Amino acid sequence: MITQVISAVTQEEGGTTLGASLIRAGELVAFPTETVYGLGANGLDGEAVNRIFEAKGRPNDNPLILHIAKKSDLKKLWAHVPDRAYPLIETFWPGPLTLIFHKADVVPYEVTAGLETVAVRMPSDRTARALIRKAEVPIAAPSANRSGKPSPTNAKHVLDDMDGRIPLILDGGDCKYGVESTVLSLVGEPTILRPGAITREMLEAVIGPVRLAASILKPLGEREVAASPGMKYKHYAPDARVIVVDGTPEETSKCVLSLYYDLLEEGKTVEVLSTAQTQFRYRGIAATEIGDRAHPETLCANLFSALREVGALCDVILAEGVGTSEEGLAYMNRLLRAAGFDRIDASEYNKKQTKQ
Ligand code: TXA
Ligand code: MG
Repeated sequence: MITQVISAVTQEEGGTTLGASLIRAGELVAFPTETVYGLGANGLDGEAVNRIFEAKGRPNDNPLILHIAKKSDLKKLWAHVPDRAYPLIETFWPGPLTLIFHKADVVPYEVTAGLETVAVRMPSDRTARALIRKAEVPIAAPSANRSGKPSPTNAKHVLDDMDGRIPLILDGGDCKYGVESTVLSLVGEPTILRPGAITREMLEAVIGPVRLAASILKPLGEREVAASPGMKYKHYAPDARVIVVDGTPEETSKCVLSLYYDLLEEGKTVEVLSTAQTQFRYRGIAATEIGDRAHPETLCANLFSALREVGALCDVILAEGVGTSEEGLAYMNRLLRAAGFDRIDASEYNKKQTKQ
């Protein structure tokens, strides 16, 4: 199959019209959203949805998100709309918030991986909305990466993973947020299953207390059941090994430098993902500044592209851990998964080094 890439900027009309006709014909189309690129299929057609799992190599017990272009479409996809959904939808849609509730009968089990609940979101990206509107069906879409890889934040990342597997990629440039939507379950107590740009603090300001699923910052225990099936799989793994170094900017950079030279001595190639607060300490070594600790949304915006692009250049990435308030939680959730939870406490490490 030849994969066509069409600019959603210069050819938006034609691109989304072709995309919508492919979706209606049961084919797959990759498209930009404000979070990451999605790999879309007709969300009411189980066979079309199965093609997504094939193209991604995704385990078929991991459910998908349905994307809609009008708030009122939610009523068709959920058994009913619970009262507390309304203020959330009014405040955060369109935007990077996915809501989970009991599904309506029209939603095929291929989308929900057999669950009785379904995840729905209304993206704000223009191209995404035009595509959904023209397709006249909800679009089921996971991130458009091969399963296990970092999510794509530009069309080149999608092409790298999907070339020859899908007929069309709509190229809308770089994604605004760079991490996937916040996933909030409204079944029982409101619970964040995956943190994102709509933070716990923002949600609580609208609906009061919101829980965090246990596995957001740690691996699932052997006997724990994943609140969200996606959490149990290896995720966001670039070609290189990733090690997270946690601590203050000073402790972190000291530890990173020491690890850097140790790894070089072992014959490894190493790259550092630094922050605005530490970059000046890494003069003369391979370090890429990906954002500012005081504005973790800047780290989110660059993380996946850095993992892909820097990960292709080296054996080991040393990445800095940051605080987990606001968007820091989404950043640490993705980074720790990319590292397989390989994490070093900088201050403890530095203490041991001084003793030796
Ligand atoms: O920003 C996003 O959400 C992007 C763009 C393309 O919209 N999509 C995305 O989809 O990240 P995906 O499939 O990569 O992640 C969906 C997550 C998975 O962790 C999945 O397990 C969870 O949502 N999920 C979906 N339906 C669920 C359900 N009914 N119950 C629990 N978790 C669910
Ligand atoms: Mg994904």
